[in-house]
Amino acid sequence: MTNNSIVANLFPAAEDIPAEFQIGEYQEQREYLVGGELHQWKGEVNPIASPICLNNNGKIEPAIIGATPLLDGDTAMQALDAAVEAYQSGHGEWPAMSVSERIAHVENFLAKMREQRDAVVKLLMWEIGKNLPDSQKEFDRTCEYIVDTIVALKDLDRNSSSFQIEQGTLAQIRRVPFGVAVCMGPYNYPLNETFSTLIPALIMGNTIVFKPAKFGVLLIRPLLNAFKDCFPAGVVNVIYGSGRTTITPIMESGKVDVFAFIGTNKGASNLKKLHPKPHRLRAVLGLDAKNPGIVLKDVDMDTAVSECVAGATSFNGQRCTALKLLLVHEDIAEQFVKQFSAKLAELKPGMPWEPGVKLTPLPEPGKAAYLEALVDDATSKGARVVNEHGGEYLETFYYPAVLYPVTSDMRVYDEEQFGPVIPIATFKSVDEVIDYVVNASFGQQLSIFGTDYKEVARLIDSSATQVGRINLNAQCQRGPDTFPFNGRKDSAEGTLSVSDALRQFSIRTLVAAKYNKESKELISEIIRNGESGFLSTDFIF
Ligand code: G3H
Repeated sequence: MTNNSIVANLFPAAEDIPAEFQIGEYQEQREYLVGGELHQWKGEVNPIASPICLNNNGKIEPAIIGATPLLDGDTAMQALDAAVEAYQSGHGEWPAMSVSERIAHVENFLAKMREQRDAVVKLLMWEIGKNLPDSQKEFDRTCEYIVDTIVALKDLDRNSSSFQIEQGTLAQIRRVPFGVAVCMGPYNYPLNETFSTLIPALIMGNTIVFKPAKFGVLLIRPLLNAFKDCFPAGVVNVIYGSGRTTITPIMESGKVDVFAFIGTNKGASNLKKLHPKPHRLRAVLGLDAKNPGIVLKDVDMDTAVSECVAGATSFNGQRCTALKLLLVHEDIAEQFVKQFSAKLAELKPGMPWEPGVKLTPLPEPGKAAYLEALVDDATSKGARVVNEHGGEYLETFYYPAVLYPVTSDMRVYDEEQFGPVIPIATFKSVDEVIDYVVNASFGQQLSIFGTDYKEVARLIDSSATQVGRINLNAQCQRGPDTFPFNGRKDSAEGTLSVSDALRQFSIRTLVAAKYNKESKELISEIIRNGESGFLSTDFIF
């Protein structure tokens, strides 16, 4: 790094951080939530090194902002036991509760959660380096997700409150929970993505063991009391520590019914395999992706460039939906690369709270060195870093490197970089692109940029059986959250959306009887006397 480097003066001295964004005192968290109680962990803790480094008289060092418990396997098993006890084979207070009562508990939780917005937003910035507007958006989007989930559940329940008569059979069909759900989320959306499985699992009547992501852990702490106060004991248990130590015995116990995991396919497979009866495990997985942005010869260049820049660099490329490989038609590649680099140069690097900042430090230790190795591999095989300052780094800050021309023998062509390295490869014919998409290990989404309707249509049809979403002249993304979000191959298992998630975490059960006088009388008696929670025509208004 030279003094002309773009990264030289990015990190602030502690006293230069505006008061409202200072992290304050070191937060040593020792509490964890099991069986409705906040216990104090007496053992080892895991120090939290912020991606934000501080300039201490010229010495750049990560800020150590706190620590979280490193629970052992026995303690993790206590959390599982608490969830099993709260579920009580489906007879526990929570799974047996009416839908409207469960909704009331979640609404109560949401109100308490909203009170913690500032604390959680600040920790999102300090723990994972997400900029202020995106941190606020993550919090608000999560609250909206909860509101929408409640609306969707009311609809689902209203539809289930009636009877169906088919071929002489009278039936009422309702959705019921599976049992104990383990929920684990990713560090890039430690609140939103985790809650996008935890909340539907919970509201459908499952009991939960929740282990926060590897980074973005302290930010769950302000919500622990809300979890404790809003749900019956053991319904939500929050544990901390290494996945290997805590989740391994939990999965090996065979007592987990639903495994909701957002992370790598390798991690998911290893944990799933531990379950002694895999057929009893419902898995809801969001995994790796290498979404390509395909730029056709006939294209609105300005739109393609700005969407590709946003798609490749939002949150420094640390989104599962990020554009991780740009495939550009050879006739327009030089022009695209030039415009792309110019647009990228407009993005402001800095600390998450600085106005207008788009590029921020990375939370994963060793990430800059990993990205540098990817770049070295590509440049040793003929690619160049084409943007000014590309690949400059200092500690946790890595300035985006645009690599061109990238070829299939380079690691970055297939490997999910999950960070600010942007590979651009060229193609001559659309057949090459189709081959890439068909042979890729991942199948989450792709983006097509083009104006020739025949070519766009051909790519749509050839990709429709390969990926879960095809974006036209727009970057890849998960939202709106009411749309299905899934993936094929090694990218996902199951479909999430506000309404799909409710289905993923429940199963239909029906009560059926011959449609005759005796059945009608029996069922009418049960309903008239309010004798059954399941068999009922109660309508949620
Ligand atoms: O990291 C994967 C997220 O689900 C992506 O969500 O497209 O809204 O950033 P997003």
